[in-house]
Amino acid sequence: MPNKTKPHPYNYFDYRREGYPRVVNINVTLRCNLFCDMCQVPSSQAEEAPPEKLLAFFERLGAWLPDPLMFILTGGEPLMHKRIYDYVAKISQIGHIPVLNTNGALLNVERVKRLLDAGVEVINLSLDGVGELHDRLRNGPGLYAGILDIIYYLTHNNDLNVNTVMVVHALNAHSLPELVGILRQMPGFGVMQFQAVVPTLARGWSEDFFQLSPLWPRTREQLDVVLSTIDNLEALKRDGAKINNPYSQFAMWRRYFTDPRELGASYPCLAMHNMLQVTVEGNIQLCERHGAIGTIDDDPAVIWNGERAQKIRDVMRACAATCNYKLNCCYFADEDQAVCDLSGTS
Ligand SMILES: C[S@@+](CC[C@H](N)C(=O)[O-])C[C@H]1O[C@@H](n2cnc3c(N)ncnc32)[C@H](O)[C@@H]1O
Ligand code: SF4
Ligand code: SF4
Repeated sequence: MPNKTKPHPYNYFDYRREGYPRVVNINVTLRCNLFCDMCQVPSSQAEEAPPEKLLAFFERLGAWLPDPLMFILTGGEPLMHKRIYDYVAKISQIGHIPVLNTNGALLNVERVKRLLDAGVEVINLSLDGVGELHDRLRNGPGLYAGILDIIYYLTHNNDLNVNTVMVVHALNAHSLPELVGILRQMPGFGVMQFQAVVPTLARGWSEDFFQLSPLWPRTREQLDVVLSTIDNLEALKRDGAKINNPYSQFAMWRRYFTDPRELGASYPCLAMHNMLQVTVEGNIQLCERHGAIGTIDDDPAVIWNGERAQKIRDVMRACAATCNYKLNCCYFADEDQAVCDLSGTS
């Protein structure tokens, strides 16, 4: 079992142990209680992995991984899965860091208590704009006020790490610097992680998105707003706002928003050694496009370093795609990558 006395990093690039992933990402369900403008996950369907098999896979991961890694529970909305508390508890028992990515709408005092009892350590809440804008983008009246209440409650009552994830696009860019200002004022709040909008999640990469979607900055004026927001976020970060994205990622996004087609070939893909991903059906993959290396029935030590995984890595090494991972998870890392830690002290 990994040594849990290590400080808990937010940035998984801190772990670079050869032969192991740096983060485990688990899609527990595609079901969701919301229908956000930028996401088609809730309209996709897939049979969910049997919980007992997934729990057994976590056990095997625990026996193999030498460092405490973040196990990110996501989806869909992970709180829609009735065994979510068992997943959190198992991850904690095997010595890793249970992280919950949630839209926050289903969180209440009772569920927070169950999550804490199970050992959750990090809650990442999605927040896409100030006030009514967030509610509109997520089709959830009252959501924004509820999330600020939850952040207040969580940061005042527990030792949890409470962070936010914000997607940057044409319809919300103008609102994001104000949102940073609001979150900065909240005592005990952790870090803000921004993501660049990608063609609608769960619909595959589509060129139409860049021509047709209102989320994409299609006019010069919209592009200027997005680019100046990126400048603003950088300036706020230099000013001490706990924005977790490296400056190199903002540089990449300037190019992406200016021309999304040109980007991929200039940035090597880092996904092949970073992420062990568990799909909702229980397949194990390094990236969405290049196939599974195995399933949750397998031994992770064997499949991570096995022949199939190495063949897939060879294909990935030559992949010039622009994709969600390259933009938002496996951006070109440089010396400024370790930005803040979860305790909020740096
Ligand atoms: C798919 S959601 C799953 C977790 C949870 N349902 C939530 O909304 O936080 C994970 C993250 O992806 C983000 N996301 C959704 N659609 C996106 C898109 N088209 N481009 C980039 N990020 C997106 C969400 O805002 C959220 O922070
Ligand atoms: S972003 Fe999250 S909350 Fe919104 S539809 Fe997708 S899975 Fe559901
Ligand atoms: S760049 Fe290619 S190989 Fe890398 S994560 Fe994206 S699709 Fe996969």
